[in-house]
Amino acid sequence: MAVNGDKQMQQITEKTDTSKDIKILAIESSCDETAAAVVLNGRTVLSNVISSQIALHTLYGGVVPELASRKHIEKINQVIEQALADAQVTLDDIDAIGVTYGPGLVGALLVGVAEAKAIAYARKLPLVGVHHIEGHVSANYIEHPDLEPPFLCLIVSGGHTHLVIVRDYGEFEILGRTRDDAAGEAFDKVARAIGLGYPGGPKVDKLAREGNPDAIVFPKGKLGDNPYDFSFSGVKSAVLNYLNSASMKGEEVNRADLAASFQKSVVDVLVEHTMLAAKEYGMKKVAIAGGVASNGALREAMEKACRRRKYTFYRPSPILCTDNAAMIGTAAYYEYIKGTRHGWDLNAIPNLKLGER
Ligand code: KG4
Ligand code: ZN
Repeated sequence: MAVNGDKQMQQITEKTDTSKDIKILAIESSCDETAAAVVLNGRTVLSNVISSQIALHTLYGGVVPELASRKHIEKINQVIEQALADAQVTLDDIDAIGVTYGPGLVGALLVGVAEAKAIAYARKLPLVGVHHIEGHVSANYIEHPDLEPPFLCLIVSGGHTHLVIVRDYGEFEILGRTRDDAAGEAFDKVARAIGLGYPGGPKVDKLAREGNPDAIVFPKGKLGDNPYDFSFSGVKSAVLNYLNSASMKGEEVNRADLAASFQKSVVDVLVEHTMLAAKEYGMKKVAIAGGVASNGALREAMEKACRRRKYTFYRPSPILCTDNAAMIGTAAYYEYIKGTRHGWDLNAIPNLKLGER
């Protein structure tokens, strides 16, 4: 993948000796959080610094890519210094640099990738490029020391909705994905339509607590051929139609009921598909990951469904669900001990596919 496709860039070296401690400095800048973390042996987070750009993008109702890149450049050194200071280490103590190189906004990714390459080159440290979604999945390893592959994982973020079997560290079998909007995207669009602003997910989550989830029945995007695929554009359109029709009739909309009903229709589908896959594939360990995995209703519903079937349910704390660098440090560790190393030609790949290297 010199830019796309050239597999030369990544080299697999000898497996790494894991008898000694390994500290990874990880960098994440794929969207609107500038983040750095130091992670020890893949599972112990020594520091996790996140500089959010929410205040900046709120003014525009969504992420403005050019502004995101500029803000990353402004913040990245500070965030890395803070991560090292919080972990009480210096670059002399670091064994490798991990960095998200895709998918995401190209300009935003480039800031992290260039920074990681500069540090790795200057300090003669190995460089490990990480897939952002592999990072989200790996967030589950941080607080669940017992969790090891294989397990089923639902990944729901602002840009992705995937149902996968994690066969091994960094090895995924994709069972289903969204055919249109990602789950988080649907939350963000509905939030905008009811005037909640950006970022929508947490605001819908909060407002839904005051509403009745059974007040309005929205469609549950069913798809014919693959029972594990998702579709959220139908429910999003149904919400917009509901709002338009109420406004034409001059009726007031109960926004809390609408938020709760929309959320229920999304959560129901996510849980149904996940439970179906767990049964079909005989998976007794079920995890969730990505920004939408911090949603209260999804966490409760998935937990309940798993308990009923005697599956073990894993989910990261909310702060590890949304974008952060600790999850990238964990994913980088498992890549590092497998022998994954990237060269100085590591590039940002905005549409990097899961499982692609
Ligand atoms: O994983 P993430 O931080 O970034 C991406 O990789 O996309 O996910 C961000 C997405 C946004 O769409 C945001 O609205 C959604 O996650 N989100 C939530 C919640 N917190 C964040 N959606 C529903 N409920 C939440 N509590
Ligand atoms: Zn993310």
